[in-house]
Amino acid sequence: MSGVNEIRSAFLDYFAQNGHEAVPSSSLVPRNDPTLMFTNAGMVQFKNVFTGVEKRPYSTATTSQKCVRAGGKHNDLDNVGYTARHHTFFEMLGNFSFGDYFKERAIELAWTLITKEFQLPKDKLLVTVYHTDDEAADLWKKIAGFSDSKIIRIPTSDNFWQMGDTGPCGPCSEIFIDQGDKLWGGPPGSPEEDGDRFLEFWNLVFMQYEQIEPGNRIALPRPSIDTGMGLERISAIMQGVYSNYDTDLFRTLIEAVAHATGVAPEGDRKASHRVIADHLRTSCFLVADGVLPSNEGRGYVLRRIMRRAMRHAQLLGAKEPLMYRLVPVLVREMGQAYPELIRAEALITETLKLEETRFRKTLERGLSILDEETRSLTKGQSLSGETAFTLYDTFGFPLDLTQDALKPRGIGVDTDAFDAAMERQRQKARAAWTGSGEAATETVWFGVKERVGATEFLGYETETAEGVVLALLKDGAEVSELKAGETGLVIVNQTPFYGESGGQVGDTGLMQGEGARMRVTGTEKKLGDLFVHHVTVEHGTLKMNQAVELQVDHGRRAAVRANHSATHLLHEALRQVLGDHVAQKGSLVSADRLRFDFSHPKPVSDDEAKQVEEIANRVLLQNEPVVTRLMAVDEAIESGARALFGEKYGDEVRVVSMGKGEGNRTFSVELCGGTHVNRTGDIGLVTVVSEGAVAAGVRRLEAMTGDAARRHLAEESRKLREVAGLLKAPVDDVTERLNALIEDRRRLERDLAEARRKIAMGGAGGGEEAPREVGGIKLMARAISGIEMKDLKSLADEGKRRLGSGVVAIVGVGEDGKAGIVVGVTEDLTGKYDAVSLVRIGSEKLGGKGGGGRRDMAQAGGPDGAQAEAALAAIEAALAAA
Ligand code: ALA
Repeated sequence: MSGVNEIRSAFLDYFAQNGHEAVPSSSLVPRNDPTLMFTNAGMVQFKNVFTGVEKRPYSTATTSQKCVRAGGKHNDLDNVGYTARHHTFFEMLGNFSFGDYFKERAIELAWTLITKEFQLPKDKLLVTVYHTDDEAADLWKKIAGFSDSKIIRIPTSDNFWQMGDTGPCGPCSEIFIDQGDKLWGGPPGSPEEDGDRFLEFWNLVFMQYEQIEPGNRIALPRPSIDTGMGLERISAIMQGVYSNYDTDLFRTLIEAVAHATGVAPEGDRKASHRVIADHLRTSCFLVADGVLPSNEGRGYVLRRIMRRAMRHAQLLGAKEPLMYRLVPVLVREMGQAYPELIRAEALITETLKLEETRFRKTLERGLSILDEETRSLTKGQSLSGETAFTLYDTFGFPLDLTQDALKPRGIGVDTDAFDAAMERQRQKARAAWTGSGEAATETVWFGVKERVGATEFLGYETETAEGVVLALLKDGAEVSELKAGETGLVIVNQTPFYGESGGQVGDTGLMQGEGARMRVTGTEKKLGDLFVHHVTVEHGTLKMNQAVELQVDHGRRAAVRANHSATHLLHEALRQVLGDHVAQKGSLVSADRLRFDFSHPKPVSDDEAKQVEEIANRVLLQNEPVVTRLMAVDEAIESGARALFGEKYGDEVRVVSMGKGEGNRTFSVELCGGTHVNRTGDIGLVTVVSEGAVAAGVRRLEAMTGDAARRHLAEESRKLREVAGLLKAPVDDVTERLNALIEDRRRLERDLAEARRKIAMGGAGGGEEAPREVGGIKLMARAISGIEMKDLKSLADEGKRRLGSGVVAIVGVGEDGKAGIVVGVTEDLTGKYDAVSLVRIGSEKLGGKGGGGRRDMAQAGGPDGAQAEAALAAIEAALAAA
């Protein structure tokens, strides 16, 4: 008997040996189909390969594909736990031919695998074919030697496989095994076909067509093959058990549940064990693929699945959160085949623990309300929608959890009343929004948000995805299309484009579909979680409900990621260098640089900036993975994560950690919704380019990373070499050489000033100019240019000394054309003449006002240096008149 892991490997090996490329499972979140909530078949990742839109370097492939069927069309959630074969998560084994082989080879390969490799008994096998597919029927006869009785023709859609309303499709042939008459049931097509005896385990789809829209089917470029075998089913068959839950993998999981709860796996609690085992797989795989519990979209389906399992854990008497303790068992069983489980183990564990801890806070109380409300109800009756809504709204009971809880008693829920209560609440919320003071121009968003709900953001995991256009706006109003050349706003159901928030700029890139091509020039968020793309239509017409491919500008996003992660490193480095008072006051993360504002009372010195840069780069070079977790806010803050004071956070927050600090502590832990590098080394390099003040007590640091930093530094060093060239000195000697030059210049300036002074005092002719006699006293009057104002006073002193007795008036005109004036009166004359009033007379001519000093020495200035001679003349006139 083979275990599930061996069967999976045997299948993949077999097809690989037969020339197929073994392709890894794609993500559970489909990247190429905006209408699909989760990947639900092996062919999903190959959809565009079948239709010829996408080319791959191989024409045949084999996979073991992770699939989830919960929420949306194929919703198996209700049945899971109560039947032998229903799952929310399952693995689909498949082989694919993209225009390579067709029916004959597909049937041959399948027959050889199941009869030779897997050794299933030939006489117990039988098949169905689409009723008109004679070719397939003949091939089964030829290859398997089946008689007509073993080839059942089915006229219904059961044997015509379609991915959805649109997409590749074709007739199919299903392989069944007769498990013997111990089980009830009849062959396919018979009235007893729903019984367990005849079990379908492999579907071979002969892909021939593409459904373009309902009623319009075209041929595929080349006939192709898509097959799907449920690994859980084939394992049950090969292990000789009648329930998928009795296969080795599920038994291991269920035993772990039994061990943790002390409740035996069989007996009346069987369903709870199965629910937990199934939902554990779904939860872990979804989290590993980037889905986190939330109240919208995929995240809400995940939350419903988690909480359904958590209620069953409670039913099994678990007093503490249980699910997270099972993670290691699952990782041991499935981690080798799906390494993403190993990579995400910590995130999965924390997410489950957080969700269960929070849910348990209200679970008991909610269940007791449910008990009270249903005590008087009997089988066939329904719980009121209002109560179901209260349980949902106040106690976090998704509707299907309430339904699941009442199912064993045959009690339903009035879902219409539940929906009505939900609608009333939405309206209340809308009224609250409208009154919340948002600008009037923004009110258009309330209607949009209410109609289309929150946008699902895929950009943590991917930079390309498909979305469906749900709203278009032009000039502030909703429109049904945007034409070539027009600019407008686009809302899609899901997007990889980051909407500007938390300081990080919104993404730009491309949006295209059905002949239309739009340039996305920016992305912002409205009303919290509505992602608004600003687009210009380059050609074609963008219409409502159209599917579009969204592609983020990768290079720009990569630079933004690096800058955002570097911001976290600098933040922590600043705290370490400057002290714990450093708190973030603002930040801007763009593609070309980052800006970080923080509280600090004085300039950051060059030496401090250097230390900050060094610490950040040292952590960068550790090249440790950047880890993102989801936590409850209070828990995150308790654990030391940096949060922004005054910022509003939801109940749950993303916590981004990076680097190793002292004593093995994590270097940086911050609450952050931004996008980050995978490993710190991806930042490349971080360099601080400027530091300055923004407001009292707030400093701003600007920095660059990666290639921008490299180019910045290269440019700086080029300039340095240029300077060295001019100085004719090696780069190492530049500072010394410049200092010497500066010193030289200072000395020359001093000498020059001295020379000027001497010339000035000596008069224009160079010889000693005799002072004039004015009103009986000696006057020395001089206008001098190119002299520093601070030197005027010493000139006046010197003039007084030379005169012995008299008045000195000097106007100095600076290079800017402004003038300074100084008047000196020798001691013996201060009784008669006042330097202050004289200087005022002069300064008035120079266009200045006032002047100050003492009777023996006063100084003033004025803007009009051209009037220097006039000023001196005015002083002379005043002396003459005295
Ligand atoms: N795509 C086919 C299925 O899902 C094989 O059954």
